[in-house]
Amino acid sequence: MSITQPERPTSRRPEHIPTALEPALGEAAMHPAFDLPLLRDLIRPDHLNWTPRELRDLTDLVTSELTTQLMNIVRIDEQQRWWAKLGLTAGVELWLLSWAPGQGTPAHDHGGASGSFSVLFGGLREDYRYAGGPVRTKHHDLGDGIGFGAGRAHQVTNVSSVNSASVHAYSPPLLPVRYYADLAAFTPQRSEVD
Ligand SMILES: [Fe+2]
Repeated sequence: MSITQPERPTSRRPEHIPTALEPALGEAAMHPAFDLPLLRDLIRPDHLNWTPRELRDLTDLVTSELTTQLMNIVRIDEQQRWWAKLGLTAGVELWLLSWAPGQGTPAHDHGGASGSFSVLFGGLREDYRYAGGPVRTKHHDLGDGIGFGAGRAHQVTNVSSVNSASVHAYSPPLLPVRYYADLAAFTPQRSEVD
């Protein structure tokens, strides 16, 4: 008698091709300087489908509870934006980004993923737009966190005169970022706005 293995559950949509291999459900690939029991608890390796609120809670908790560890690894690169991957599971990826004054992203979305970010230090300006809506602007300061769904594009910039750093999470992980000429050109796929 042959035994058929159950298919591994996945939240990934068929049109999305991941940018790298993801860990098996229940496993976590951690930054070597950040392989801490608390982070392994927070990143929940057996949790696949993170909501925007859960992602925001994750990045809020990481910035507030692991501040010292984050400050030990963060770097500022005046030439280009700096980032480090803190952790990756089958359900979520977690990043630490830094922003020297004037550094920022082009307009983009996260390829159908939900996301969040929380400010570790400094502040960030976020211009964002839901499909069909106006472009809005929000300033995120130290301690602020935000979670967002797939039907939203944004552009993040450090417009201040001091350095900034932030912790970001995305679920599903490893979906390629999609760039736009500007936020007005953002048109999410229909399945992402229903
Ligand atoms: Fe983003």
